[in-house]
Amino acid sequence: MSEQAEIILEGKSHKLPIVVGTENEKAIDINNLRSETGYITLDSGYKNTGATVSAITFLDGEEGILSYRGYPIEQLAERSDFIEVAYLLIKGELPTKQQLDEFYEAITMHTLIHEDIRKFYGAFPTFAHPMGVVSSVTSALSTFYPESLNPHRGEEKIFLTITRLLAKFPTIAAWAYKHSIGHPVVYPKNKLGYVENFLNMMFSMPTDEYEIDPVVVNALDKLLILHADHEQNCSTSTVRLAGSSQANLYSSIAAGITALWGPLHGGANQEVIEMLDRIREDGGSVDKWIAKAKDKNDPFRLMGFGHRVYKNFDPRAKIIKKACDDVLNRLGIKDPVLEIAKKLEEVALNDEYFVERKLYPNVDFYSGIIYRAMGIPKDMFTVLFAVGRLPGWIAQWKEMTVNKEPIGRPRQIYVGSKSRDYINIADR
Ligand code: CMC
Repeated sequence: MSEQAEIILEGKSHKLPIVVGTENEKAIDINNLRSETGYITLDSGYKNTGATVSAITFLDGEEGILSYRGYPIEQLAERSDFIEVAYLLIKGELPTKQQLDEFYEAITMHTLIHEDIRKFYGAFPTFAHPMGVVSSVTSALSTFYPESLNPHRGEEKIFLTITRLLAKFPTIAAWAYKHSIGHPVVYPKNKLGYVENFLNMMFSMPTDEYEIDPVVVNALDKLLILHADHEQNCSTSTVRLAGSSQANLYSSIAAGITALWGPLHGGANQEVIEMLDRIREDGGSVDKWIAKAKDKNDPFRLMGFGHRVYKNFDPRAKIIKKACDDVLNRLGIKDPVLEIAKKLEEVALNDEYFVERKLYPNVDFYSGIIYRAMGIPKDMFTVLFAVGRLPGWIAQWKEMTVNKEPIGRPRQIYVGSKSRDYINIADR
C-alpha cells in the first residue's frame, strides 16, 4: 500500500494520500480535507502549499538546482538560445531544426503591433513607469484579437495567440521606452533576430542607425534564458490564478506583469541598482548598509538578497555574476558599483545575520549592472525581466488550461466581528 499521512482531528484519525514528484518531492494531498473533516489549512504566503502539479520547471532550493523540462539551466544558458528555450517551455520538448525554423518564422511574422495601439502610448504621461504601460498594452491586445477570449478553441488557434504575444512583446516593451523619452517609435525589422530586434527598437534613432553589438546580444539572450521560468513564483501564480477563471492569455499575462513589478519580486533589479548608487553616493562603505539591513526597526532590506525557495545559492545568480564580469570586460566598462556589489556580497556572506537566515544574492543582484552596461535605463530593468519570463508564464497558462484546472479560490479563517444587527445612523 502506498504511503499515507495521518491526521488526528477531534480524536478522529483521517488518512491523507501522499503525492511524489519525478524528483522525489513529496506532498500531502489535502484535496478532500475540508469535505471530509470540515478543516482547512492555513499557510500565509503559501510557503508550504503546492498549488498544482506541473511538468515545466524543477527547482531544488536547498541544492540550488533549476531545470526547464528536465534540462539544467546551466546547459541551456551555455548552449541554447532564448527562442529555442521558449519553444521547449511551451511545447515540452526541444524543437527539431525544422520546428525551430518554423517557430522563428511565425514569431517574425507577428512583430508589428496594430497602428491603433501605437496611439495608446501618446495617452500615457511620459513619466509613466514602463511596467504600467507594458501591462496595459498587453491586456489591450485582447481587444484587438477577440477570438483570444476563448481559451479552449483548439491547440492551433491558441498557438497563434501565443506566437502573437511572444512576437509583439519586445515591440510593446521597446515602444514604452521610446515614449518615455519622447522619441518616435522604431518599427520591428524582420531580418533581425528576437534580441537584436528588441535592442534595435530600443536604441535606433531616425538620426542614427544603432550598431548591434554581438557581445550585448549574447549577454541579453543568456539573461532572458535565465529568467524564462521559475515554477510557481508570485507572478506565475498570478497568471495561473487569473487564467483559472478562463480569462484570456493576454489579460492573464498582464496580471502577471503587474505582480512582477513589485520590489520584492521582479522590481528588485531596479531597486538593487538604486541601492548600489545610494551606497556609492554615500561614500561607498558597505558596513553602514549591512547594519541597516539587519536593524529590525529600519525598513531597509538588502535588495537582491534572499529568496523564498533558494536557501543555499541561486544558480541563476552564479551564472549572471560571471556574465557580468565578462560583459563589462568585453565592453571595456568600469562600473564603480560592481566593486560595491562584490564587497557587499562578501561582507553579507560572512555575516552571521545573513548566514543564519540563508540569505544569498539572487538573480536580481548582478543583472542590473549588466543592463546598465548595455545602456538600458533603470526603469526598463523589470520590463526585461518580463520579456524573459514571458515564455514561462505562457507555458504555465497553457498547462493549466489544457489540464482544465479548477478555478483558484483560496479559503480563509474569518477573525472579524461576530454577527451583529445593523444600527440606524441616528442611533450610532
Ligand atoms: N535583507 C535583510 N533581511 C532579509 C532580507 C534582505 N534582503 N531578506 C530576508 N531577510 C530576513 C527577514 O527580515 C527575516 O528575518 P527574521 O527571521 O529575523 O524576521 C528572514 O530574513 C526571512 O525573510 P522573509 O521575508 O520571511 O522571507 P520570504 O521568503 O518571505 O521573502 C524575499 C523572500 C525575496 C521577499 C526577501 O528575501 C526579500 O525581501 N529580499 C529582497 C528583495 C529581493 O531581492 N527580491 C527578489 C527575489 S529574486 C527574483 C524573483 O524571483 O522574484
